[in-house]
Amino acid sequence: MTILQRTVLAALLAVLTSAFAQDQALPLDPFNAAPDAVSKPLPDARSAGAKLVSTYCAQCHAAPTPILHTAKEWSSVAQRMHIQMDSRWRSVNTPTEQEMDSIVAYMRKHARQ
Ligand code: HEC
Repeated sequence: MTILQRTVLAALLAVLTSAFAQDQALPLDPFNAAPDAVSKPLPDARSAGAKLVSTYCAQCHAAPTPILHTAKEWSSVAQRMHIQMDSRWRSVNTPTEQEMDSIVAYMRKHARQ
């Protein structure tokens, strides 16, 4: 193992360890880029889609606002998050396929233009 590989591995372990230590609170804040957008309530807050986002998508980080991405981007971002939730080492509630479809439809409907 090269020194570079060792350094990368050590950094990765440090990040993972601190994530566990804080009991799922992530060391990174993916929403720093758009703090104003994130602190706003979700659009159409009473809709089924918004409720699903509050239920499932706020388990590891703040509830993501739809305007973070375009409609096209949301499909792949949501898929990546579904994989995160499905990982067995995470004890989070995972939406069903049907619920996931509603989340994606909601995100796309209110997405950034
Ligand atoms: C199991 C924990 C977990 C859950 C639950 C989760 N996420 Fe994430 N999310 C992460 C992690 C870790 C990152 C940072 C790494 C990354 O971007 O993949 C992140 C980053 C993000 C980002 C910022 C990065 C980007 O590509 O814009 C968005 C947006 C996001 N999540 C949306 C969602 C949505 C929508 C849901 C619900 C369907 C969700 N997340 C549920 C763990 C989670």
